[in-house]
Amino acid sequence: GDEGHVHDVDFSFEGPFGTFDQNQLQRGLKVYTEVCSACHGLRYVPLRTLGDEGGPHYSEDEVRAYAERYEVFDAELDDFRPALPTDHFPEGGDPNAPDLSLMAKARAGFHGPYGTGLNQLFQGIGGPEYIVSILTGYTGEEKEEAGTLYYENTAFAGGWIAMAPPLFEEAVEFDDGHDNSVHHMAEDVSAFLMWAAEPKMMARKQAGFVAVLFLVVLSVLLYLTNKRIWAPVK
Ligand code: HEM
Repeated sequence: GDEGHVHDVDFSFEGPFGTFDQNQLQRGLKVYTEVCSACHGLRYVPLRTLGDEGGPHYSEDEVRAYAERYEVFDAELDDFRPALPTDHFPEGGDPNAPDLSLMAKARAGFHGPYGTGLNQLFQGIGGPEYIVSILTGYTGEEKEEAGTLYYENTAFAGGWIAMAPPLFEEAVEFDDGHDNSVHHMAEDVSAFLMWAAEPKMMARKQAGFVAVLFLVVLSVLLYLTNKRIWAPVK
């Protein structure tokens, strides 16, 4: 097909025991806040979840302070007020920019071999890799069509995207002085968007591990029971 090129990234949350990297999620939130939120929204993500363990894990005060940077419309007040942790992230300002709440799960990065998608068993679906590849896939070519500017992008299906390159080197300054090259910022914001799309991933993996362990123990017990029951017949 005309799917773009997506390269694999080793994210901390991959594999059966993968976990989100709290510092990376905090950096990703910063990239989202200072760059992406100018156009995109996260309307399905409650601000209070920024305090969740396994996620960015901010303190209650930090979450409250962060929420206040957004204005939300309050139907009861019939007016705008600063957002509270109980509110969701607001919608984006650009109606053409899709909401990013579920983007990391809405797109696949890997489709092969031969479009069967079997590689996804080993590489994962590739949603966050797709976002990294979009953010780093600009060639610098532009064209105008029917009054809209399109930017050549090697990861975007069809090759031309209507989003101007959002990241440039050192666009965001991290508190801990972490690397802020375009590639690192792209990985950080993609990890953050993976968390936004699946905040319970770690709990899910843990439950899955416990279930498998339980089934292994049960199988051993059933095997031994079976042996014992049939022992006199042998
Ligand atoms: C589309 C991510 C910043 C405007 C998209 C898509 C993603 C994305 C994943 C969807 C591609 C697809 O449909 O498969 C991001 C991230 C940003 C960011 C992570 C911050 C680092 C921005 C900014 C603007 C913007 C600042 C506006 C100036 C758009 C528009 C589209 C889009 C208009 C639709 C493009 C099209 O369908 O051709 N963005 N974006 N984005 N974004 Fe962004």
